[in-house]
Amino acid sequence: MAYAHITGWGMAVPEKILTNDDLSKMVDTNDEWIRSRTGIAERRIAGEGESSATLAVEASLRALEVANLKAADIDLVIVSSSSPEHIFPATASLVQDQIGAINAGAFDLSAACTGFIFATNMAAQSIRSGAIKNALVIGAETLSRFVDWTDRNTCILFGDGAGAFVLQANDEPGGVLSAVMHSDGSGGDLLSLPAGGSKLPTSEATIRNGLHFIQMDGKSVFRFATRVMARATKEALEKAGLEIEDVDLIVPHQANTRIIEAAARGLKLPMEKFVVNLDRYGNTSTASIPIATVEAFESGRINPGDKIVFVGFGGGLTWGAFTAEWSGPLPSERKVLHGWHLFLARIRSVLLRIVRVIEGLIWGRFGR
Ligand code: COA
Repeated sequence: MAYAHITGWGMAVPEKILTNDDLSKMVDTNDEWIRSRTGIAERRIAGEGESSATLAVEASLRALEVANLKAADIDLVIVSSSSPEHIFPATASLVQDQIGAINAGAFDLSAACTGFIFATNMAAQSIRSGAIKNALVIGAETLSRFVDWTDRNTCILFGDGAGAFVLQANDEPGGVLSAVMHSDGSGGDLLSLPAGGSKLPTSEATIRNGLHFIQMDGKSVFRFATRVMARATKEALEKAGLEIEDVDLIVPHQANTRIIEAAARGLKLPMEKFVVNLDRYGNTSTASIPIATVEAFESGRINPGDKIVFVGFGGGLTWGAFTAEWSGPLPSERKVLHGWHLFLARIRSVLLRIVRVIEGLIWGRFGR
């Protein structure tokens, strides 16, 4: 049976920074309150022309470059997002087209901030079953577009960004070792975006009542999060046959330093074992785990052979974790010319659109 190795990783965040001081000019809050209650100092906000798909594409191209893999060799693209481009088409389809993953099936996965854990597990299981060889898993968010910038309970928390992993089949043991996924829909109302779906389609009333913005019961979510982080980590470790002492690093969902500290206490681990970068990005939801991974790798905190736990929680309610033995890119003889492949992908996309227009004209004239 093949193992699912993490062979590529990439991230993308918007340039625009929104600091706590900036926020204090928008709502009744201050830097001290936000830092002490959440650990967040600043977050990135998508500018004009940026969206979940553009950030996802950027992160994906970087991940493919690290893996030295052609987009055309990808079999599966999963975009996990709570702020997709549209209800449909899937953001994953747009990414598939933009990067030139011409042989891939692509779909979105919605599991709020736990989405990247669930998506990675889906991709890893597809690889381990032998069904596919290469997968691209992306967490991408522009939650700033769904935040009520007059609501100090929520607008201080979220930030925009994307992160991506490439997963590849290999006979060498390693890669994703185990995963656990959990849901509790009875708590769905604790963190939600009520309108814009089939239950409450956008209307004058939904807009008047602010139902197209994120709604959150912060205290309940906080209590839930502190309960499940340590528990999910232990479950995933047990499933992999690992002990807590075997863990080199934990990459938790970046929502609140106090939640991560509670997990550290629950696991009896020092905070040094945890990656924390939410001070600079806020809660980027499903993008937070891959973004934190990329930064941990770049700062030398992740090395081949390391045993890592990735653990998250979020709306749904959802929570889960996966363990992995870090391997890095698979050996390959040839360097992929990414710029060239990207150029061909963009040409191909334009040509396909032109062909569709011509086809429409021909059908209009001669078809039925
Ligand atoms: N600035 C200043 N004061 C604020 C504030 C802000 N941005 N937001 C709330 N307050 C006030 C409240 O109005 C309240 O005032 P009161 O005591 O006069 O009523 C006080 O601060 C305490 O508010 P409370 O909601 O009890 O704060 P808290 O310690 O629970 O922290 C959160 C609030 C949102 C930071 C915290 O509950 C949390 O992090 N929850 C989890 C949220 C999360 O992670 N969501 C995403 C999950 S993926």
